[in-house]
Amino acid sequence: MLRLENPSSFTLPRSMPFTRRLQDHDSDSDDESTASLPPFSPPPSTRGSRTSYDVSMRSASPTPSVWSMTSSIRAQAFKQEYGRELNNYSEVYRLPADDEELDRLNKQHDMFVELMGKYPPCLPEIMRDDVPGETKACLDLGCGSGAWIMGLAREFPQSLAVAVDLVPMQSLTMPDNCRSEVDDINLGLEHFYGDFNVVHARLISSGIKNYVNLIDQMSRVLRPAGLIHVMEFDFHVWDHMPDGNHRRCDLSTSQIAEPWVGRWMVYASLAVRNAGGHPDAATHLHRWIASHPLLENVVYHDYWIPVSPHPIFNDFQKHVGAQMRDDILSFLKSGRPLLLGSGVPEHIVDELQGNAERELRSAARPQYIRVQSVYARKKTT
Ligand SMILES: C[S@@+](CC[C@H](N)C(=O)[O-])C[C@H]1O[C@@H](n2cnc3c(N)ncnc32)[C@H](O)[C@@H]1O
Repeated sequence: MLRLENPSSFTLPRSMPFTRRLQDHDSDSDDESTASLPPFSPPPSTRGSRTSYDVSMRSASPTPSVWSMTSSIRAQAFKQEYGRELNNYSEVYRLPADDEELDRLNKQHDMFVELMGKYPPCLPEIMRDDVPGETKACLDLGCGSGAWIMGLAREFPQSLAVAVDLVPMQSLTMPDNCRSEVDDINLGLEHFYGDFNVVHARLISSGIKNYVNLIDQMSRVLRPAGLIHVMEFDFHVWDHMPDGNHRRCDLSTSQIAEPWVGRWMVYASLAVRNAGGHPDAATHLHRWIASHPLLENVVYHDYWIPVSPHPIFNDFQKHVGAQMRDDILSFLKSGRPLLLGSGVPEHIVDELQGNAERELRSAARPQYIRVQSVYARKKTT
């Protein structure tokens, strides 16, 4: 199926089997030899920027042209596994990149905004267009559907917004000041050093081999006083305790039994680790960022999100719990390639998933997912 891509531009990954960068096709031709390089228009410059804007392609048309993704490019960027479409670039990240998953991510984004707000309070001031000769710039690592970065690009139209992911961002409504790059961020961010006022990463730990190193790389892409904002969840479920505290549901794979959502998470966490990801990065984010020599003014929040609208929760928690339940129901399906690909037998995956679905739908347990958020500023000296 032909998919129309963002009008702006995107660059290709460093180690994918592409021989050259995407071409501006006006038809769904598989014949790359017929493609020619589109004319360049000068991108908004960032002072001293070494972003890959200079190597990406942008239509010269005042009305942005429309990128089309040829089926050959699509075939190289995606692969089918266990009935879902996954990225074809990283063996580490094993969740789908298809429409169903993008829909889940969009809804999840809306839930997060309702719960946490759009940005840290200092972000609007940092992104304000108030430095003559400097284009403010924001980088989103592992952008997924792009809901976060496109919202920022629209809110700060004079800025430059760059989104990186293992697959091209697929949106028909990408703002002109936003561009999508395909890359594995495990390969490093040296080409971006010193280019951005804000760098953001949310829920990407399952595709990250070394999260401590990622934080170091993120600190280096920032300009002085720039903002790093990272948010992750820890692949655990937490029980509600009568005293109002939360207790981590520490389970093993030695039995297949309730609690089911917690049990499924243990399998997912192990599968992420087996694939080379960093499922427990959330637990260490605060310490890693607080101890980084280039970062200061660290602010930490954790968010306890009910996994269902259980009767003990208040009205707002039930409202969020209903959204989180739907998110996890969809996540259970997204996790099938992850679990099956890590060698969990299909009948076990079915049993875990079916029981977890029933547990969620009946709001059987007062439990939470914990999302940890840390932001900090880059030192000026
Ligand atoms: C769970 S989604 C989250 C998407 C988005 N950050 C959000 O919060 O809605 C994780 C995204 O990170 C991307 N990702 C994971 N590992 C990556 C890597 N090593 N390099 C680039 N993107 C990566 C995945 O392709 C996926 O789109």
